[in-house]
Amino acid sequence: MTTQWFTIESPTDAAQIEAAAAIIRRGGLLAIPTETVYGLGADGLNEEAVTHIFEAKGRPQDNPLILHVPSADWLDRYCEDVPETAYRLAETFWPGPLTMILKKRGFVPLRTTGGLDTVGMRCPDHAVTRAIIAAAGVPVAAPSANLSGRPSCTTAAHVREDMDGRIDGIVDGGDCKVGVESTIIDLTCMPPRLLRPGGLPLESLRAVLGEIALDKAVTQLLSEGEKPRAPGMKYRHYAPKAPVTVVTGSPAASGRWLCAEAPEDAGLIVFDEFAPLFPTQTVRTIGSMRDKAEQAHRVFDALRSFDETDVRAIYAQCPDSEGLGLAVGNRLKKAAGFHTVDAEDKRHTFIGITGCTGAGKTSVLRALRRLGDGGAYVVDCDALYHELLASDTPLRRALCGAFADAFDENGALDRKKLGALVFHDEAALSRLDGIVREHVPREALRRARESGAEITGFDAIKLLESGLGALCDAVVAVTAPEKTRLARIMARDALTEERAMERIRAQKDETFFRAHCDVVFENDYPTPQAAEDAALDLFKTLLKQE
Ligand code: TXA
Ligand code: MG
Repeated sequence: MTTQWFTIESPTDAAQIEAAAAIIRRGGLLAIPTETVYGLGADGLNEEAVTHIFEAKGRPQDNPLILHVPSADWLDRYCEDVPETAYRLAETFWPGPLTMILKKRGFVPLRTTGGLDTVGMRCPDHAVTRAIIAAAGVPVAAPSANLSGRPSCTTAAHVREDMDGRIDGIVDGGDCKVGVESTIIDLTCMPPRLLRPGGLPLESLRAVLGEIALDKAVTQLLSEGEKPRAPGMKYRHYAPKAPVTVVTGSPAASGRWLCAEAPEDAGLIVFDEFAPLFPTQTVRTIGSMRDKAEQAHRVFDALRSFDETDVRAIYAQCPDSEGLGLAVGNRLKKAAGFHTVDAEDKRHTFIGITGCTGAGKTSVLRALRRLGDGGAYVVDCDALYHELLASDTPLRRALCGAFADAFDENGALDRKKLGALVFHDEAALSRLDGIVREHVPREALRRARESGAEITGFDAIKLLESGLGALCDAVVAVTAPEKTRLARIMARDALTEERAMERIRAQKDETFFRAHCDVVFENDYPTPQAAEDAALDLFKTLLKQE
């Protein structure tokens, strides 16, 4: 079968919409874009057409399909006893990533509903697709357009990967905005039950419905014989070829776990902030740890992309369950067959210290060393780097591989030569940064663990850029007014005002630190002792919050 390709930019492109709708009307299979993921559509009232969906996907026959409609007035055409809450939800969230399970009318084929007397109804937030459904004049049954078991498709190219030659047409409607499937709520029971977390956060549903029960399959692997209310939730899903392990806990904790435990040849799914820590591994980022919408948008693409690599195992950082995090975490865990490790570590706290030159970081570090019983264990990352350069460690070996010219015949590193090699060569500099980042944070972490200290401080100039800041439970930036810094630098390093100013300008400014750190410690105290005492108070408050 040749699969026809449609690029439809607008719902007013009548000729193209009609051509696509005709495929549905004559019982064909058409992949359609939605805001969540691509669907594999067919006339939901045509049993033969629906049978072809199951065949094309390789999907078990007992797994029901969702009916897609262009508006809420189609609800009672196909459903009976529609509760008032369904209309309220439709009014609030449709078109949008919400599927409601309702009682079906007799003529809706059991083939479509997998033998159930209920049916899932959804109105997608994609104008082209709604126009196609309206033009077809029938509800469109559409599961996600992936081959059964594979990650869902969020681009038309993904659909082509899975479905080319198996279906009649693919409508390219661009990247899916949301990126995870719709939230499924069962309205045939009291209280309503969440069957699948998805693109509409549970909190938004609760705001309208009040109490909502969570189906067990949302958070756990069901045991043999247990039946989820959404039959699809029992199948292994979204799975790339390599086995997946989901690492839960705060992003800082899961990041530390990955640094210490993830094998060299593993594939990693991490939040953007952590990527610099893994320069040699096969890494896919899914957005900032603070941006769950972006994570939802990218999670399936990340899972899918490992199939083009030869990674033997995949480890994924997992967001918390708030908002879209519930859906992102659920997709990752399902891809992992609920194989998770919990990296949360309440016994150890990591604090990062960074800031501008001349801001008086030293006083703050002294305060850190006074914290708790034995004081915090502070790793001076710059000193650690120089120490590692001198001793025979993996860092030296990696450097020798990349910059052989910087080593003499006895294997001694000439740091000046190394500096010269990277000075005007951006690619070489980023290679050097990569090697440093691969080794220094890991060694810093290893020493922190070995020290057994409850509180560790990481002191690093490029704390944030290196990814090390992301491993900290809290990052404190030390700043001071420019005038104060200028005076301190001039006194400390015996510099002219002009040279001191040059140094200040060569560094990131205060706005950078304010934007990226949890706390800003403004060190404008008259004496180092006063600054140290104030910093100690700050740390004590911080630790209470942890
Ligand atoms: O965002 C979405 O919902 C996408 C796009 C294409 O609309 N569709 C989608 O369909 O994810 P699918 O078939 O991949 O997943 C539908 C899930 C399955 O787990 C199925 O078991 C469940 O919905 N489901 C469908 N009808 C149901 C019903 N009557 N009762 C309980 N669960 C149902
Ligand atoms: Mg699916």
